[in-house]
Amino acid sequence: ASSTVPITVMEIEKIAKTRLPQNVYDYYACGADEQKAMHRNAYMFDKLLIRPRVMVNVSHVDTSTTVFGKRYPFPVAFAPSAMQKLCHPRGELEAAEAAASVGLSMTLSSQSTTSLEDVADACNISNRDGPDFWFQLYLTQDPEYSRELIKRAEAAGYTAIVLTVDTPILGNRINERKTPLVLPEGMHLGNYAQPKQGIKGPAIERVFLNAHTVDEANEIMKKAGPTMHSSCMTWQETIPWLHSVTNMKIILKGIMTEEDAKLAVEHGADAIVVSNHGGSIRQLDLVPATVEVLPTIADAVAGRIPVIFDGGVRRGSDVFKAIALGADLVLIGRPVLWGLSYDGKKGVEAVTNILERELSRTMTLAGVRDIKEITKDSLGVAKRDGF
Ligand code: FNR
Repeated sequence: ASSTVPITVMEIEKIAKTRLPQNVYDYYACGADEQKAMHRNAYMFDKLLIRPRVMVNVSHVDTSTTVFGKRYPFPVAFAPSAMQKLCHPRGELEAAEAAASVGLSMTLSSQSTTSLEDVADACNISNRDGPDFWFQLYLTQDPEYSRELIKRAEAAGYTAIVLTVDTPILGNRINERKTPLVLPEGMHLGNYAQPKQGIKGPAIERVFLNAHTVDEANEIMKKAGPTMHSSCMTWQETIPWLHSVTNMKIILKGIMTEEDAKLAVEHGADAIVVSNHGGSIRQLDLVPATVEVLPTIADAVAGRIPVIFDGGVRRGSDVFKAIALGADLVLIGRPVLWGLSYDGKKGVEAVTNILERELSRTMTLAGVRDIKEITKDSLGVAKRDGF
């Protein structure tokens, strides 16, 4: 009998698709507007080819890497993605347990369906031997509200704030407008549903806490408008303010130009994430693929801070290509969600195992022995499409 165990991330996505309700799968799989940017992320990876070197002793290949002084078995980490309980009843807990067991860093979305404290407790993240856990933040227009959330993340043992900077307003998600996603009864956004704090969360919380019909959700979204996400962040104010609130590292997620990468370094960011928010930028549709802008951004940063990358990574060879173009660490967004939907913690581990083995095999076949040996010279670009 042939094996039904998936052996690629794409096969895991196929299984996930059969298990998820249509509107949840659409929310995860789709991008903004016509989804050109999302497809471009994958397409531009495919245009990059690997230049294999031979007669190199590759009997030992070391995939490990170090970021902020912490060693990881391979240069992959989990991107923040909202509402993981839609994939699995234990949602973020399963993803976090997979990250902890494999030894990879996870960034918890502020829009998680599990509270940041519950994730921290489940994985004992204050134990500094394990991978670092980071907390993603959308600044709201109420700074006290954000300050409270940052303090909670710090107290719980997270070591960095990943500030998402590409979302001054929500993008035009056409599918979602047709079939808005509404959290089922009993599911809520874990970080905001703490009435004892008496602080109002962002409008998106009110949508998911209060709306249990599509009409209600639409009505709340309409009223919330641009106050949902902070549209008034600035280089001069926001990063110094964050550093004044916390000792955690400050990572800016959503950098797409070398100008902004330089400004991030100058204004004291500890790292940047080159990201278009999911290849879909789930935001602005007509942007380049992240892998297209990575080389110039990495050159602009010139090793002063880590350059983290996401968008369209589905294979170990994609990780290899991103590293070759200057990334220090590569985030996976949707693959974690597919893994969760497929088989919870084990499914996410299956995704990471696939990527690790593919990366190691790619390195061996390319004739590189460790991550530092993966350079621009490891890649070529296809002169024409197709075969
Ligand atoms: C996201 N992303 C995201 N980013 C963020 O900063 N905060 C968030 O809450 C979310 N939520 C979210 C939900 C879903 C369903 C998706 C698909 C994405 C973006 C995410 O962090 C990351 O940038 C992309 O997912 C990376 O691209 P790939 O790996 O999905 O192609």
